[in-house]
This record gives sequence, structure tokens and C-alpha cells, in this order.
Amino acid sequence: MTSTTFILLLIGSGVVALVGVIIVAMRRSESEGAATAAEFDRKAMKVDKVRREAIAQALVEPDGGASVATMVAAPAEYKDDNPREVVSATEYGVSRRKFFNRALSAVFGLFMLQFTLAGLAFFWPKLKGGFGTPINAGKAIELKAEVLVAGSIIPKFVPSAQAWIVPFDMNELAGSSFETVPFVVAGGESDGIGLMALWQRCVHLGCRVPSCESSQGFECPCHGSKYNGHGEYAQGPAPRNLDRFEVQVDAAGDLIVETGNIVQTSRSKNFTVAYPQGPFCV
Ligand code: FES
Repeated sequence: MTSTTFILLLIGSGVVALVGVIIVAMRRSESEGAATAAEFDRKAMKVDKVRREAIAQALVEPDGGASVATMVAAPAEYKDDNPREVVSATEYGVSRRKFFNRALSAVFGLFMLQFTLAGLAFFWPKLKGGFGTPINAGKAIELKAEVLVAGSIIPKFVPSAQAWIVPFDMNELAGSSFETVPFVVAGGESDGIGLMALWQRCVHLGCRVPSCESSQGFECPCHGSKYNGHGEYAQGPAPRNLDRFEVQVDAAGDLIVETGNIVQTSRSKNFTVAYPQGPFCV
């Protein structure tokens, strides 16, 4: 799930939860007023029942000694002029409706709490490890041996850095797109062969860009953007070179890819490596 999808889900759920809480609140206010009314209704029904029973008894025993007025009258405690007691919400206690309304509110509250915590966990920056932090790609000297074989570039993909590691001849640096950008090439002090880390994400619309062994470059399968072995723009709708990460070689000789520091460079006027060197893959 992408960040955009997650944010849209978060907003959508928040709106749904808010509407739910408003509905519950409105129902609660209605039920507060209805509590005493419901109690009065029950009293009225009880009075009617007593009257009906008295009339039925009079029909069975017409001379049973009770006058019609007495027979149809409700007992004193249920007479209409008996002042009705106003029952406050506190005295009435928790009705079943109130209980369900409160339970519903509690469920919404728990849902929102859970969603908020999940959102925080998702966006909370990872302080150690993972994309966005410095990634150890391995020993620089070993990487050089892997990515440059008999003059051919064999890019090495580092999944945790989402980066292609490629070699770079330091003699090509002057006049290149990377000349004025510090920390883009590292490890070339001893033998003149440095290393670069290219972000695998196409700068057009973000597809993953695979390497192409035959052409010695990178070719995007989505809309056909093509880049040479150093990620320099060659063809297609891409607006610039492949982005790259700052790199450095630490005291232990490891290549550190700073995936939090992305370097953008404009299209190259002069390629630092020839392209294509064979048939295209895309
Ligand atoms: S996303 Fe790569 S060319 Fe469009």
C-alpha cells in the first residue's frame, strides 16, 4: 500500500467515524428526553389495564356491590389526578438504548484510537535501518570487482537501498553531470574506479527500471525511457538522469548508500559511458 493510498484511507475512515459519532450523539440526545416519556406511557397503560379488569369483573358480577363509577375508576394510586412523578435521567438509570449507544461510541473510540496508533506507526521515521537511512552495501573493493567485469558494467542491485551500484571511471568526472555534485561517486581514490548508487525508480512516473545487459544501460518497461550505464538520460519521456544517492566509503571500507540524500541531475550533454552498446531490451 502506497503512502497516498494510506492517507486517503485514513481520511475516509476519519470521515466515516465522524459521521457515526454525530449520529450516535444525536440519537443519545433524543433518548435522554424520551426516558421520562416512556415511563409515563407505561403508567398510562397500567391505568388502562386496571380499568379494563374492573369493567370485566363488573360484567361477570353485575351486582357485586361495586358502583359503575367505582368499577371503571382506577385505583387511587393510578388515578389521573395522581400527580405524576418526573423521573430524572439520573434516577432513571441506564436504559438499554443508552447502553447500546454508549457501547457504539466506545467501539468508534477504540477504532479511531487503533487507526491513529497505526497511522503514527506507519509514518514514524525509522531511526535505524531501512530505506531512508544509511545502508551498508558491502565492501567497496568487492563491489568494484562485481560490477565491472572485463570492461562491461554488471550493475549490482541492493534491495534494501533500492539502488543499482555501478562503476564510474574517475577520469570521466570532469565535465560530467556529476562534476559539481559532491558525494555522488566514492571509492575511486586508489584505483580510479569509483562507485555510484542509482535509485531504481524511473524519474518519469516512478516505475522500477531494470538493467539491460545487451545495451549496457537501464530501460524502463513502462514508457520506454532509456538511460546509459551511469543512469544518464538517453531516450524517452524521462525529464532528467536517473536519480542517485550520496555514497561514501567508511573507515572499514564499506560502501555506505545514503538513501535519505537523493541527488537529481539534469540531462547530460556528454555521456560518460557509451550507449547503447548492443540491442535494446525494451
Ligand atoms: S515510468 Fe519510466 S518511462 Fe514512464
